[in-house]
Amino acid sequence: MKALRVTDNDPRHGASLCDIQPDTLPEGYVRVVVHYSAINYKDALAVTGRGNIVRSPPRTVGIDAVGVVDRSNDPAFAPGDRVIATGWHLGETRDGGLAEILQVPAQVLIVCPSSLSLWQAAALGTAGLTAALALSRLQNNGQTPEMGPVAVTGATGGVGLIAIDLLALAGYEVVAVSRRGTTYGDWLRSLGAAEVISPDALETHGKPLASGSIAGAIDAVGGDLLADLLAHTKLAGNVAAVGLAGGFELHTTVAPFLLRGIALLGIDSVQCPNVTRHELWQTLAAGLSTGHLERIIDDTVTLDTVPAVCRTLLAGEHLGRTVVAMGDLT
Ligand SMILES: NC(=O)c1ccc[n+]([C@@H]2O[C@H](COP(=O)([O-])OP(=O)(O)OC[C@H]3O[C@@H](n4cnc5c(N)ncnc54)[C@H](OP(=O)(O)O)[C@@H]3O)[C@@H](O)[C@H]2O)c1
Repeated sequence: MKALRVTDNDPRHGASLCDIQPDTLPEGYVRVVVHYSAINYKDALAVTGRGNIVRSPPRTVGIDAVGVVDRSNDPAFAPGDRVIATGWHLGETRDGGLAEILQVPAQVLIVCPSSLSLWQAAALGTAGLTAALALSRLQNNGQTPEMGPVAVTGATGGVGLIAIDLLALAGYEVVAVSRRGTTYGDWLRSLGAAEVISPDALETHGKPLASGSIAGAIDAVGGDLLADLLAHTKLAGNVAAVGLAGGFELHTTVAPFLLRGIALLGIDSVQCPNVTRHELWQTLAAGLSTGHLERIIDDTVTLDTVPAVCRTLLAGEHLGRTVVAMGDLT
C-alpha cells in the first residue's frame, strides 16, 4: 500500500511517499480502506518536517482518515462500515491517515453519519470537528447571539471557514478576521461573515484592555492576535483558543479575566471524547449551509501532491480545505 511516511530517525527531514505492507491486524484493531484524507495545519508541519509532530519514526503521517472497514478484530465494527478517524494522535504516535490502509484500535473510529458522503466527511475532518467543538464550548459557556458579534481569526483557513459557517447558521453575527480580507472579503461574506476586518484593526500594542468591540471569538491564530482578541472582548464574553498559525506564545495580563469576566476556552480536538465527537458529527451532518462545504474546498488531490500543498499552507498562501483522494481522481 502507498503511504506518506517519515522514515528517517530525524522527523525534521519530513515525509515521502512509500510502498509498505500493512502489519498483521492485532486484537481490538480495525483495518480501514482509506478513501479520503485531508491536509490540516498539523499535517503540513509533519510532512515538511517542522513542529515536532511525528514522535517515533518510521511513521505514516496524517491526522484525518475516512473510509470503509475491510476487516475488524473488534465487535464494535464490521466489514463495510463507513468510518471517520481524526485526532487520537494519528500521525503522531500512531500511523496516520495519509495512506491507502489505516489500522487502528476500534476506539479511534466513529461511524460516519449516513447523510454525509465519505468525501464530505473528509472535507470537514479535523477542521470541522474543531470548529464545531469550539462553537459548542462557547454556547455551553453562555455565549448567545444577543451578546453581539463573534470574531473568527484565520478566517480563510479550514477551521476558520467552517467556524464562520456554523456560527452564522446558529444566528451569530460573525466578524471574519483575515490578513487577506482585501482579496477574499466577498467570498468570506458569501459564506456568512457580516464583516471582514484585518488583524491590524484589533492591534492594541500590548494593552490588555481595549474598546470591547466583540462579544466572543474563535481564534485559529494565537500569539499577539489572541491577546488582542482578549483585550477587545466585552463583559462575560468567551474566547476559544484553537490554533497557533500566528504564534505559540500569549502575552496578556489577568485584566480581561478579572475586570471583564472573560473566559478563555482551550480547544483540544485530538482527545475529544467519542461521546462528544458523535454529537458534533451529527451537528456537522445536520448542516453547513447548502453548498458551502463544496465552496470551501480548494482542491481534491492525490497523495503525491500533498508535500507541495503543505508548503503553500505553511507559507500562509493556502485557502480553505484540500481533500486527499487515495484512489484515481478520474
Ligand atoms: N486545538 C485543536 O484541536 C486544533 C484542531 C485543528 C487545528 N488547530 C490549529 O488551528 C490552526 C488553524 O488550522 P487550519 O487547519 O485551519 O489551518 P489553515 O487552513 O492553514 O488556516 C490557518 C489560517 O490562519 C491564518 N494564518 C496562516 N499563517 C499565519 C500567520 N503566520 N500569521 C497569522 N495568520 C496566519 C490564515 O488565515 P488568513 O490569511 O485569513 O488570516 C490561514 O488561512 C492551526 O494552528 C492548527 O494547528 C487546532
